[in-house]
Amino acid sequence: MIALLILVIPLVVFLASVHRQSTPNQPPRLGETIPFISNVWQFMTAKNRFIMRVSMALRTSPIVQCQLGPLKSYFVTGSEHVPMLFKSTMFTSDPWVIHIIKHTAGYFPVDVAKFLRDDSGSSRQPRVRSTKDTIPASERIWYALHQNYNATLSGPQSVKTVCTSYQTFFEQQLTTVLAAKGNSELLLFDFIKKNMSRAAVCAMFGPDIIDTNPGFMEAFWKYEGLSEPLTFGLPSWLNREGIEARNTVRDMCTRWYKCANYEFAWERLEADQDTIWEPIFGSSLSRGLARWGKSFDFSTEGMGPVYTLFLIALNSNTVPICTWVMMELIKDPDLLQAVRRETTRSTVLSGASTQTLDEQKITSIPLLQSIYAETLRLHVGILITRTSLVPVTVAGYSFPAGTVFHAPTQVAHLDEITWGVPGHPASEFWAYRHTQERITKNEKGEVEKHLEFSLKGPPGAFFPYGGGTAMCAGRNFAKAEVLLTVAILVSKLDIKFLEWLKPDGSPSDRPAWDDTWYTNAVAAPPDREMKVQWETLA
Ligand code: HEM
Ligand SMILES: *[C@@H]1O[C@H](CO)[C@@H](O)[C@H](O)[C@H]1NC(C)=O
Ligand SMILES: *[C@@H]1O[C@H](CO)[C@@H](O)[C@H](O)[C@H]1NC(C)=O
Repeated sequence: MIALLILVIPLVVFLASVHRQSTPNQPPRLGETIPFISNVWQFMTAKNRFIMRVSMALRTSPIVQCQLGPLKSYFVTGSEHVPMLFKSTMFTSDPWVIHIIKHTAGYFPVDVAKFLRDDSGSSRQPRVRSTKDTIPASERIWYALHQNYNATLSGPQSVKTVCTSYQTFFEQQLTTVLAAKGNSELLLFDFIKKNMSRAAVCAMFGPDIIDTNPGFMEAFWKYEGLSEPLTFGLPSWLNREGIEARNTVRDMCTRWYKCANYEFAWERLEADQDTIWEPIFGSSLSRGLARWGKSFDFSTEGMGPVYTLFLIALNSNTVPICTWVMMELIKDPDLLQAVRRETTRSTVLSGASTQTLDEQKITSIPLLQSIYAETLRLHVGILITRTSLVPVTVAGYSFPAGTVFHAPTQVAHLDEITWGVPGHPASEFWAYRHTQERITKNEKGEVEKHLEFSLKGPPGAFFPYGGGTAMCAGRNFAKAEVLLTVAILVSKLDIKFLEWLKPDGSPSDRPAWDDTWYTNAVAAPPDREMKVQWETLA
């Protein structure tokens, strides 16, 4: 980190001289004890405190200017301003995504260049200002990627196919855990992390990626833990460990991809009937990524980073979110019982003797929807980042094209005025916060009470998945996967709280909080483990 300061200082001296002639009519500025240094320093070393400072500043102004090293950007909050950032005619997330594919995933420079060349956006209609005459439709790499997400990931049929395989794998693993004799205690986070991620990887990519790469899941989680600092894009000598962890996973993905691509009978499968799960590539999303890579001339080695990044998207948020949901249920046996009652009602028999849960029914249970939204609200923390494509006016200030804006989810999600109700402040979990009671009369004229899911709050108050064309493509699957896992666990097991443990395994006198290491990495995992006792339900 000292090395970083040494890097930054000369730049700062240069920029400080440029900065003197500051423009009038600028939004209030996030204070700095050392100009150009304090903010970037805090951003990199104590991001949670940095975001807290941003929150405080945003209470007095909906827009705040901030200097992060050489970069100037603007923090934005509020229902008039955040939704504007999601308009794809005015703002883009391309530079942010390029940063991630380059640094977090390690896309090859030759492939990053394909994204840089294409400024036509990810919508069907090329962006108006784009140099569209020079970009043939076949080179619209952003659009092709999004089309693939639309066709293979976001829709209800894609979600159903992946969910069915997910359940099969998850239940197989659960059976093994339950069969282990004399084992009635579990570390909840460890259990969910290992079992959920393994089943999700098998459902998305097929089991070979794990089976042919010893230590694959361990290598993945090591990389995942180091991926947030990777995103800074520090030179390799400052982040050797992170880059090594990333390259290990990348090489494993490449090795698997080579075999899968060799074995798979591409010519036999038509793209438009490609909805099935098969063991070589797994889901249609996985085959779609392969097809997309081929059509944009990615080398076999270049496909490694593509799958590596998708593994992060697949696991790094659903695992902590599911863990938080389970922790809340276990802390509150009445709530757990209520959830069990609701989910058993939704159990359906599918086919012969196997009992599978219907993800559409599970994800429409009002209480579960509310708990899921509440968990996202409390534990998702990310600076949604956009760059203006045209001159824009935000909160009364004018900015040129190319200005960078951030919308911090935490500021909106923890706003007391929007979310607080008497007895249930915005900072606390409340399972019923996003429900309302509706009273109806049945045919006999008797009064019946129903819970309904209702996410209150104005636009721009809740955006755990971002928004606009860049909005999370995996959100429907994520919700189904988390709630299916919860439903399986509560319907098969009776689970009781034993104790909280610190990372070193010693008892903790407080419950889990968000692990601050993960601030700004989307969902924060718990910083404490929960030891539980389980029994199978008859
Ligand atoms: C609770 C779980 C999840 C949360 C909170 C979450 C959140 C996000 C956020 C904040 C973004 C950036 C959106 C923006 O810039 O507006 C994003 C993008 C994305 N997510 Fe998720 N995500 C979750 C689960 C998943 C899962 C399970 C998958 C895959 C199966 C996935 C795939 C993606 C992809 C592919 C993108 C990039 C979309 C693009 O091309 O711009 N996500 N997610
Ligand atoms: C994806 O689907 C959405 C919703 O149907 C649609 O608005 C969008 O244009 C589609 N995007 C692409 C790239 O096909
Ligand atoms: C499932 O969780 C248990 C308990 O943490 C662990 O022992 C087991 O290895 C996990 N299974 C898989 C497939 O990772």
